[in-house]
Amino acid sequence: MRIDVLTLFPEVFAPFLSTSIVGRAVERGLVCIRCVNFRDFAHDAHRSVDDKPYGGGPGMVLMCPPIVEALESLDADGGEGSLRILLTPQGERLSQAMVGEFAKLARIVLICGHYEGFDERIRTVTGAREVSIGDYVLSGGEPAAMVLIDAVVRLVPGVLGDQQSVVEESFAAGTLEYPQYTRPREFRGLQVPDVLLSGDHGRIAAWRREQSVDRTRRRRPDLLGEA
Ligand code: ADE
Repeated sequence: MRIDVLTLFPEVFAPFLSTSIVGRAVERGLVCIRCVNFRDFAHDAHRSVDDKPYGGGPGMVLMCPPIVEALESLDADGGEGSLRILLTPQGERLSQAMVGEFAKLARIVLICGHYEGFDERIRTVTGAREVSIGDYVLSGGEPAAMVLIDAVVRLVPGVLGDQQSVVEESFAAGTLEYPQYTRPREFRGLQVPDVLLSGDHGRIAAWRREQSVDRTRRRRPDLLGEA
């Protein structure tokens, strides 16, 4: 899978792309992730990417030419047909189902905004899908792009050692994950539930299903409605 990221701050991606699960996926060639600084596509000597909003008002607005031309340069480099994703609090809320869809694609482009927002024509011209990571406003799309990349990359086949862990985890089945325990068997008077030590795989599976539904009902009843 190939992921291109349009950003004014490529340096913030460097440690993220070389650490942990994402870092290992990149190192093993399971994903190729490239950052493009769209300031390189600015037209003036000041390398401007934003300007004051027509009609007045506070802040600055990202202008069309640098972002659109950066996307066109990716198209010319084999990226035609990539899904374009604009990170914005106005977008559709990111879900595990969306992440699963994105992970099946050969190539996606993430567009990170900054300042007050995008010139509306960027939406029209790029045809990008708009994605939000939650109902709060970040100062830029970069943390949102990292959230999306992390969630997608771990679903790319071969990235996680144990593919079963993807199936069993929270949200994959529409419910939260059951409680997990590891050694020691007793910690400060707290015991591991007996059923997990029973060796009875049928009982363990039933207990986990029940815990999963019970936990979801208490913490996230909205998920049970959707399931
Ligand atoms: N950019 C600013 N806030 C955002 C959010 N909540 N989700 C995605 N991109 C954003």
